[in-house]
Amino acid sequence: MATLNILRYPDARLHKVAAPVTVFDESLKKLVADMAETMYAAPGIGLAATQVDVHKQIIVVDVSDRRDSLIVLVNPEILESTGVSDIEEGCLSLPGIYELVERAERVKVRAFDQNGTAFTLEAQGLLSVCIQHEMDHLKGKVFVEQLSQLKQQRIRARLAKQLRKSA
Ligand code: NI
Repeated sequence: MATLNILRYPDARLHKVAAPVTVFDESLKKLVADMAETMYAAPGIGLAATQVDVHKQIIVVDVSDRRDSLIVLVNPEILESTGVSDIEEGCLSLPGIYELVERAERVKVRAFDQNGTAFTLEAQGLLSVCIQHEMDHLKGKVFVEQLSQLKQQRIRARLAKQLRKSA
């Protein structure tokens, strides 16, 4: 396994739209394992393939405190969504930025695991928000783009400052 490089906003590659996975082979399993390792090492609670510059519909998520409940979603699809969430979210592509974005409180999702087995999952709270956030990445959307222009400008300025400091 290996940790992968995570793209930082506003990298244009974060806006690529991911294609569905059509072949469930060893290279997919390796990618999923590397994505999980990258997410745990960051540390984060979710990672989309888009963020490691692989433009396929693959997400890894683990919102458990013990970090032992990995969920792999390949070609995820939302079947139902209800309610309104009030959870602030962050993103490994925008370290240190936390904002409230409008999301459903509960979602029912259909997906495949890395072996090609289909399943459905009902999620609420943090898991629900995390899945919706990662699914947006697959569409080339970054969560801050749902905020006002003014807020986005402030966030870009803050990230640029962070970059200068770390350079
Ligand atoms: Ni993210």
